Amino acid sequence: MKKIRIYVHVPFCESKCSYCDFASFVCEEDLKKKYFDKLEKEILSCPYKDRQVQSIYFGGGTPSSVEVTYIEKIMNAINENFVFDENAEITIECNPASESFEKLKKYKELGINRISFGVQSLNDKTLKFLNRRHTKEEAIGAIKDAKRAGFENISADLMIGVSECEVLSTGEFDLINSAEKLVSLGVKHLSAYMLQIEEGTPLYNAYQKDKSIVPDDEYCVSIYDRLVGFLTERGFIHYEISNFALPRYECQHNLGYWKLDDYIGFGLSAHSYVDGIRFANSRNFNDYFNGILASYEKITKEQQIEEKIMLGLRCQEGVSIKDLQKLGYDIIQNPNLSKFVEQGIINLNGDKITLNPDFYGVSNSIIVDLLP
Ligand SMILES: C[S@@+](CC[C@H](N)C(=O)[O-])C[C@H]1O[C@@H](n2cnc3c(N)ncnc32)[C@H](O)[C@@H]1O
Ligand code: SF4
Repeated sequence: MKKIRIYVHVPFCESKCSYCDFASFVCEEDLKKKYFDKLEKEILSCPYKDRQVQSIYFGGGTPSSVEVTYIEKIMNAINENFVFDENAEITIECNPASESFEKLKKYKELGINRISFGVQSLNDKTLKFLNRRHTKEEAIGAIKDAKRAGFENISADLMIGVSECEVLSTGEFDLINSAEKLVSLGVKHLSAYMLQIEEGTPLYNAYQKDKSIVPDDEYCVSIYDRLVGFLTERGFIHYEISNFALPRYECQHNLGYWKLDDYIGFGLSAHSYVDGIRFANSRNFNDYFNGILASYEKITKEQQIEEKIMLGLRCQEGVSIKDLQKLGYDIIQNPNLSKFVEQGIINLNGDKITLNPDFYGVSNSIIVDLLP
Protein backbone atom coordinates (compact mmCIF):
# COMPACT_ATOMS: atom_id res chain seq x y z
CA MET A 1 0.00 0.00 0.00
CA LYS A 2 1.32 3.47 -0.90
CA LYS A 3 2.08 5.75 2.04
CA ILE A 4 1.37 9.38 2.75
CA ARG A 5 1.95 11.99 5.43
CA ILE A 6 -0.63 14.63 6.28
CA TYR A 7 -0.11 18.25 7.31
CA VAL A 8 -3.11 20.27 8.56
CA HIS A 9 -2.70 24.03 8.79
CA VAL A 10 -4.57 25.91 11.51
CA PRO A 11 -4.03 29.59 10.64
CA PHE A 12 -5.31 31.12 13.88
CA CYS A 13 -3.53 32.71 16.83
CA GLU A 14 -4.70 34.66 19.84
CA SER A 15 -2.20 37.44 19.09
CA LYS A 16 0.80 37.90 16.83
CA CYS A 17 4.33 37.52 18.15
CA SER A 18 6.69 40.34 17.19
CA TYR A 19 8.83 38.21 14.84
CA CYS A 20 6.27 35.98 13.12
CA ASP A 21 5.22 36.20 9.48
CA PHE A 22 3.62 32.75 9.28
CA ALA A 23 0.16 32.40 7.71
CA SER A 24 -1.53 32.98 11.06
CA PHE A 25 -4.18 35.52 11.98
CA VAL A 26 -6.27 36.71 14.89
CA CYS A 27 -9.82 35.96 13.68
CA GLU A 28 -13.46 35.85 14.72
CA GLU A 29 -15.23 32.57 15.49
CA ASP A 30 -17.38 32.82 12.31
CA LEU A 31 -14.32 32.61 10.09
CA LYS A 32 -12.94 29.69 12.13
CA LYS A 33 -16.19 27.78 11.65
CA LYS A 34 -16.21 28.45 7.91
CA TYR A 35 -12.54 27.46 7.70
CA PHE A 36 -12.95 24.12 9.46
CA ASP A 37 -16.02 23.31 7.31
CA LYS A 38 -13.92 23.90 4.19
CA LEU A 39 -11.00 21.94 5.65
CA GLU A 40 -13.29 18.97 6.34
CA LYS A 41 -14.56 19.03 2.74
CA GLU A 42 -11.01 19.29 1.42
CA ILE A 43 -10.00 16.19 3.37
CA LEU A 44 -13.10 14.18 2.49
CA SER A 45 -12.68 14.90 -1.22
CA CYS A 46 -8.94 14.18 -1.29
CA PRO A 47 -8.19 11.66 -4.06
CA TYR A 48 -5.33 9.90 -2.23
CA LYS A 49 -7.61 7.87 0.05
CA ASP A 50 -5.98 4.56 -0.91
CA ARG A 51 -2.80 5.60 0.96
CA GLN A 52 -1.76 4.58 4.42
CA VAL A 53 -1.14 7.56 6.74
CA GLN A 54 2.25 7.42 8.44
CA SER A 55 2.04 10.73 10.30
CA ILE A 56 -0.22 13.72 10.83
CA TYR A 57 0.99 17.16 11.86
CA PHE A 58 -1.37 19.90 13.05
CA GLY A 59 0.68 23.06 12.60
CA GLY A 60 0.07 26.73 12.46
CA GLY A 61 -0.64 29.26 13.57
CA THR A 62 -1.72 27.78 16.83
CA PRO A 63 -3.85 24.63 16.63
CA SER A 64 -4.31 24.69 20.42
CA SER A 65 -5.99 28.12 20.18
CA VAL A 66 -9.16 26.70 18.61
CA GLU A 67 -11.98 24.72 20.24
CA VAL A 68 -11.06 21.07 20.51
CA THR A 69 -14.25 20.13 18.62
CA TYR A 70 -12.64 21.55 15.45
CA ILE A 71 -9.62 19.29 15.87
CA GLU A 72 -11.99 16.37 16.51
CA LYS A 73 -13.89 17.13 13.30
CA ILE A 74 -10.65 17.06 11.31
CA MET A 75 -9.40 13.85 12.95
CA ASN A 76 -12.77 12.24 12.12
CA ALA A 77 -12.53 13.37 8.50
CA ILE A 78 -9.00 11.97 8.17
CA ASN A 79 -10.16 8.72 9.77
CA GLU A 80 -13.04 8.48 7.35
CA ASN A 81 -10.98 9.04 4.21
CA PHE A 82 -7.67 7.35 4.99
CA VAL A 83 -6.24 4.19 6.49
CA PHE A 84 -3.90 4.76 9.45
CA ASP A 85 -0.62 3.02 10.07
CA GLU A 86 -1.07 1.70 13.63
CA ASN A 87 2.16 3.42 14.66
CA ALA A 88 1.32 6.74 13.02
CA GLU A 89 2.89 9.72 14.77
CA ILE A 90 0.23 12.42 15.32
CA THR A 91 1.53 15.81 16.47
CA ILE A 92 -0.24 18.98 17.47
CA GLU A 93 1.50 22.34 17.94
CA CYS A 94 0.46 24.11 21.10
CA ASN A 95 1.12 27.53 22.53
CA PRO A 96 1.60 27.29 26.32
CA ALA A 97 -0.86 30.17 26.68
CA SER A 98 -3.70 28.37 24.95
CA GLU A 99 -3.40 24.82 26.22
CA SER A 100 -5.41 23.46 29.12
CA PHE A 101 -5.26 20.13 30.89
CA GLU A 102 -8.78 19.31 29.60
CA LYS A 103 -7.79 20.08 26.01
CA LEU A 104 -4.66 17.95 26.30
CA LYS A 105 -6.67 15.01 27.68
CA LYS A 106 -9.07 15.32 24.77
CA TYR A 107 -6.18 15.37 22.27
CA LYS A 108 -4.98 12.13 23.82
CA GLU A 109 -8.44 10.56 23.40
CA LEU A 110 -8.43 11.62 19.75
CA GLY A 111 -5.27 9.59 19.18
CA ILE A 112 -2.82 12.50 19.12
CA ASN A 113 0.44 11.14 20.55
CA ARG A 114 2.93 14.00 20.27
CA ILE A 115 2.78 17.57 21.57
CA SER A 116 5.03 20.35 20.31
CA PHE A 117 5.11 23.47 22.48
CA GLY A 118 6.29 26.84 21.24
CA VAL A 119 8.35 27.85 24.26
CA GLN A 120 11.09 30.04 22.68
CA SER A 121 12.68 30.92 26.02
CA LEU A 122 12.27 30.47 29.74
CA ASN A 123 13.20 34.07 30.46
CA ASP A 124 10.20 36.34 31.09
CA LYS A 125 11.96 39.42 29.70
CA THR A 126 12.76 37.63 26.46
CA LEU A 127 9.20 36.33 26.20
CA LYS A 128 7.92 39.88 26.57
CA PHE A 129 10.34 41.14 23.92
CA LEU A 130 8.96 38.49 21.55
CA ASN A 131 5.39 39.46 22.45
CA ARG A 132 4.63 35.92 23.61
CA ARG A 133 1.41 35.48 25.56
CA HIS A 134 2.89 33.19 28.21
CA THR A 135 5.37 33.44 31.03
CA LYS A 136 8.17 31.07 31.95
CA GLU A 137 5.98 29.49 34.68
CA GLU A 138 3.09 28.97 32.25
CA ALA A 139 5.38 27.23 29.78
CA ILE A 140 6.65 24.94 32.55
CA GLY A 141 3.06 24.32 33.69
CA ALA A 142 2.00 23.42 30.15
CA ILE A 143 4.70 20.76 29.87
CA LYS A 144 3.71 19.34 33.26
CA ASP A 145 0.05 19.28 32.16
CA ALA A 146 0.95 17.40 29.00
CA LYS A 147 2.79 14.79 31.05
CA ARG A 148 -0.15 14.49 33.44
CA ALA A 149 -2.49 14.05 30.48
CA GLY A 150 -0.40 11.02 29.48
CA PHE A 151 1.88 12.44 26.79
CA GLU A 152 5.37 11.05 26.73
CA ASN A 153 6.50 12.40 23.38
CA ILE A 154 6.82 16.13 24.08
CA SER A 155 8.80 18.61 22.03
CA ALA A 156 9.63 22.26 22.65
CA ASP A 157 10.74 25.04 20.30
CA LEU A 158 13.50 27.37 21.43
CA MET A 159 14.76 30.47 19.71
CA ILE A 160 18.42 31.26 19.17
CA GLY A 161 19.65 34.81 18.78
CA VAL A 162 17.29 36.72 20.95
CA SER A 163 17.65 35.90 24.58
CA GLU A 164 21.29 36.80 24.89
CA CYS A 165 21.07 40.57 24.32
CA GLU A 166 21.06 41.61 27.94
CA VAL A 167 22.66 38.42 29.17
CA LEU A 168 25.84 39.29 27.33
CA SER A 169 26.64 41.67 30.13
CA THR A 170 25.75 39.31 32.96
CA GLY A 171 27.63 36.32 31.54
CA GLU A 172 24.65 34.01 31.89
CA PHE A 173 23.37 31.89 29.06
CA ASP A 174 19.63 32.12 28.79
CA LEU A 175 19.32 29.65 25.99
CA ILE A 176 21.30 26.96 27.77
CA ASN A 177 19.41 27.60 31.03
CA SER A 178 16.12 27.23 29.15
CA ALA A 179 17.28 24.03 27.47
CA GLU A 180 18.49 22.63 30.79
CA LYS A 181 15.12 23.26 32.44
CA LEU A 182 13.23 21.72 29.51
CA VAL A 183 15.41 18.62 29.58
CA SER A 184 14.92 18.28 33.33
CA LEU A 185 11.14 18.47 32.78
CA GLY A 186 11.39 15.41 30.53
CA VAL A 187 11.09 17.02 27.11
CA LYS A 188 12.26 14.42 24.58
CA HIS A 189 12.73 16.62 21.54
CA LEU A 190 13.96 20.19 21.03
CA SER A 191 13.86 22.39 17.95
CA ALA A 192 16.13 25.42 18.11
CA TYR A 193 15.59 27.97 15.37
CA MET A 194 17.79 30.98 14.64
CA LEU A 195 15.62 34.07 14.90
CA GLN A 196 14.78 35.29 11.40
CA ILE A 197 14.01 38.98 11.12
CA GLU A 198 11.10 38.94 8.67
CA GLU A 199 10.12 42.02 6.71
CA GLY A 200 6.76 43.48 7.72
CA THR A 201 6.92 42.27 11.33
CA PRO A 202 7.16 44.66 14.32
CA LEU A 203 10.56 43.16 15.11
CA TYR A 204 11.80 44.05 11.61
CA ASN A 205 10.76 47.67 12.10
CA ALA A 206 12.43 47.84 15.50
CA TYR A 207 15.58 46.23 14.09
CA GLN A 208 15.77 48.82 11.28
CA LYS A 209 15.93 51.52 13.96
CA ASP A 210 18.38 49.74 16.26
CA LYS A 211 20.42 46.75 15.07
CA SER A 212 21.71 46.10 18.58
CA ILE A 213 18.34 44.74 19.79
CA VAL A 214 19.53 41.29 18.78
CA PRO A 215 23.00 39.76 19.08
CA ASP A 216 25.26 39.53 16.02
CA ASP A 217 25.75 36.43 13.84
CA GLU A 218 29.05 35.48 15.43
CA TYR A 219 27.43 35.37 18.85
CA CYS A 220 24.48 33.34 17.54
CA VAL A 221 26.82 30.75 16.05
CA SER A 222 28.74 30.46 19.32
CA ILE A 223 25.56 29.99 21.37
CA TYR A 224 24.30 27.43 18.84
CA ASP A 225 27.56 25.51 19.27
CA ARG A 226 27.13 25.64 23.04
CA LEU A 227 23.60 24.31 22.73
CA VAL A 228 24.77 21.46 20.50
CA GLY A 229 27.45 20.59 23.08
CA PHE A 230 25.02 20.78 25.99
CA LEU A 231 22.32 18.64 24.37
CA THR A 232 24.67 16.00 23.00
CA GLU A 233 26.16 15.65 26.47
CA ARG A 234 22.64 14.98 27.75
CA GLY A 235 22.18 12.15 25.25
CA PHE A 236 20.28 14.08 22.59
CA ILE A 237 20.96 13.20 18.97
CA HIS A 238 21.59 16.20 16.75
CA TYR A 239 19.60 14.68 13.91
CA GLU A 240 19.04 17.80 11.83
CA ILE A 241 20.55 21.30 11.82
CA SER A 242 17.85 22.69 14.15
CA ASN A 243 16.55 19.50 15.73
CA PHE A 244 17.62 17.37 18.68
CA ALA A 245 15.98 14.26 20.08
CA LEU A 246 16.58 11.51 22.58
CA PRO A 247 16.96 8.16 20.76
CA ARG A 248 13.63 7.07 19.15
CA TYR A 249 12.06 10.51 19.57
CA GLU A 250 13.10 12.03 16.24
CA CYS A 251 10.08 13.67 14.61
CA GLN A 252 8.96 11.12 12.01
CA HIS A 253 6.86 13.67 10.17
CA ASN A 254 9.78 16.04 9.60
CA LEU A 255 12.10 13.15 8.72
CA GLY A 256 9.53 12.34 6.02
CA TYR A 257 9.88 15.84 4.52
CA TRP A 258 13.64 15.52 4.48
CA LYS A 259 13.45 12.10 2.80
CA LEU A 260 11.08 13.53 0.16
CA ASP A 261 8.26 11.18 1.21
CA ASP A 262 4.85 11.98 -0.28
CA TYR A 263 2.78 14.35 1.83
CA ILE A 264 -0.48 16.18 1.46
CA GLY A 265 -1.13 19.53 3.10
CA PHE A 266 -4.67 20.62 3.94
CA GLY A 267 -5.65 24.19 4.73
CA LEU A 268 -4.53 27.74 4.06
CA SER A 269 -1.08 27.97 2.42
CA ALA A 270 -0.46 24.24 2.94
CA HIS A 271 2.05 22.59 0.59
CA SER A 272 1.86 19.08 -0.86
CA TYR A 273 4.27 16.77 -2.64
CA VAL A 274 2.68 13.72 -4.21
CA ASP A 275 4.03 11.48 -7.01
CA GLY A 276 6.64 14.04 -8.04
CA ILE A 277 4.14 16.96 -8.18
CA ARG A 278 4.45 19.88 -5.78
CA PHE A 279 1.47 22.15 -5.21
CA ALA A 280 0.37 24.70 -2.63
CA ASN A 281 -2.92 26.14 -1.46
CA SER A 282 -3.35 29.89 -1.46
CA ARG A 283 -2.38 32.02 1.54
CA ASN A 284 -5.46 34.16 0.93
CA PHE A 285 -8.66 33.01 2.68
CA ASN A 286 -10.98 33.82 -0.27
CA ASP A 287 -8.79 32.03 -2.81
CA TYR A 288 -8.45 29.08 -0.47
CA PHE A 289 -12.23 28.89 -0.01
CA ASN A 290 -12.58 28.94 -3.81
CA GLY A 291 -10.02 26.15 -4.25
CA ILE A 292 -7.51 28.34 -6.13
CA LEU A 293 -3.98 26.92 -5.91
CA ALA A 294 -1.00 29.21 -5.35
CA SER A 295 1.36 26.95 -7.29
CA TYR A 296 1.53 23.63 -9.14
CA GLU A 297 4.77 22.22 -10.45
CA LYS A 298 6.09 18.91 -11.72
CA ILE A 299 9.45 18.27 -10.09
CA THR A 300 12.10 17.24 -12.63
CA LYS A 301 14.69 14.52 -11.99
CA GLU A 302 17.37 17.24 -11.67
CA GLN A 303 15.32 18.99 -8.97
CA GLN A 304 14.74 15.70 -7.17
CA ILE A 305 18.48 14.99 -7.14
CA GLU A 306 19.22 18.46 -5.78
CA GLU A 307 16.55 18.26 -3.12
CA LYS A 308 17.53 14.77 -2.01
CA ILE A 309 21.11 15.97 -1.49
CA MET A 310 20.16 19.25 0.17
CA LEU A 311 17.56 17.80 2.51
CA GLY A 312 19.40 14.54 3.19
CA LEU A 313 22.70 16.13 4.16
CA ARG A 314 21.04 18.47 6.62
CA CYS A 315 19.94 15.52 8.73
CA GLN A 316 21.50 12.47 10.28
CA GLU A 317 19.53 10.26 7.88
CA GLY A 318 21.86 11.28 5.03
CA VAL A 319 21.45 10.47 1.34
CA SER A 320 21.20 7.07 -0.29
CA ILE A 321 23.70 6.56 -3.13
CA LYS A 322 21.34 4.05 -4.76
CA ASP A 323 18.44 6.54 -4.66
CA LEU A 324 20.57 9.09 -6.49
CA GLN A 325 21.71 6.47 -9.00
CA LYS A 326 18.07 5.59 -9.72
CA LEU A 327 17.58 9.25 -10.59
CA GLY A 328 20.59 9.12 -12.94
CA TYR A 329 23.31 10.69 -10.74
CA ASP A 330 26.33 8.61 -9.71
CA ILE A 331 27.61 10.79 -6.85
CA ILE A 332 30.56 8.43 -6.30
CA GLN A 333 32.09 9.81 -9.52
CA ASN A 334 32.09 13.36 -8.08
CA PRO A 335 35.75 14.06 -7.03
CA ASN A 336 34.56 16.45 -4.29
CA LEU A 337 32.97 13.51 -2.49
CA SER A 338 36.28 11.67 -1.94
CA LYS A 339 37.93 14.97 -0.98
CA PHE A 340 35.27 15.62 1.70
CA VAL A 341 35.52 12.02 2.94
CA GLU A 342 39.30 12.38 3.33
CA GLN A 343 38.82 15.66 5.22
CA GLY A 344 36.33 14.02 7.60
CA ILE A 345 33.54 16.34 6.47
CA ILE A 346 31.46 13.60 4.85
CA ASN A 347 30.99 10.06 6.16
CA LEU A 348 30.47 7.17 3.78
CA ASN A 349 28.71 4.21 5.34
CA GLY A 350 27.52 1.50 2.94
CA ASP A 351 24.85 3.10 0.81
CA LYS A 352 24.61 6.23 2.97
CA ILE A 353 26.38 9.57 2.69
CA THR A 354 26.08 11.76 5.78
CA LEU A 355 27.45 15.13 6.75
CA ASN A 356 29.53 15.23 9.93
CA PRO A 357 27.28 17.24 12.33
CA ASP A 358 30.26 19.54 13.15
CA PHE A 359 29.79 20.96 9.65
CA TYR A 360 26.00 21.49 9.77
CA GLY A 361 26.65 25.22 10.18
CA VAL A 362 28.46 25.42 6.82
CA SER A 363 26.38 22.78 5.05
CA ASN A 364 25.35 25.05 2.17
CA SER A 365 28.81 25.39 0.66
CA ILE A 366 29.50 21.65 1.00
CA ILE A 367 26.17 20.69 -0.57
CA VAL A 368 26.80 22.95 -3.58
CA ASP A 369 30.03 21.06 -4.32
CA LEU A 370 28.23 17.72 -4.28
CA LEU A 371 25.53 18.62 -6.76
CA PRO A 372 25.79 17.17 -10.31
C1 LIG B 1 3.71 27.60 14.46
S1 LIG B 1 4.84 28.07 15.67
C2 LIG B 1 4.58 26.99 17.07
C3 LIG B 1 3.22 26.92 17.71
C4 LIG B 1 2.63 28.19 18.27
N1 LIG B 1 2.16 28.99 17.22
C5 LIG B 1 3.59 28.95 19.13
O1 LIG B 1 4.26 29.84 18.62
O2 LIG B 1 3.68 28.62 20.32
C6 LIG B 1 6.29 27.33 15.04
C7 LIG B 1 7.62 27.84 15.51
O3 LIG B 1 8.24 28.58 14.49
C8 LIG B 1 9.25 29.37 15.06
N2 LIG B 1 9.28 30.68 14.36
C9 LIG B 1 8.26 31.41 13.91
N3 LIG B 1 8.70 32.56 13.34
C10 LIG B 1 10.05 32.55 13.46
C11 LIG B 1 11.10 33.45 13.10
N4 LIG B 1 10.85 34.62 12.51
N5 LIG B 1 12.38 33.08 13.37
C12 LIG B 1 12.65 31.90 13.95
N6 LIG B 1 11.72 31.04 14.34
C13 LIG B 1 10.43 31.33 14.09
C14 LIG B 1 8.96 29.50 16.54
O4 LIG B 1 9.97 28.89 17.26
C15 LIG B 1 7.65 28.76 16.68
O5 LIG B 1 7.62 28.04 17.88
S1 SF4 C 1 4.99 32.22 16.65
FE1 SF4 C 1 3.20 30.93 16.90
S2 SF4 C 1 1.84 32.04 18.35
FE2 SF4 C 1 3.33 33.49 17.59
S3 SF4 C 1 2.24 34.48 15.90
FE3 SF4 C 1 3.55 32.85 15.03
S4 SF4 C 1 2.24 31.11 14.87
FE4 SF4 C 1 1.19 32.57 16.26
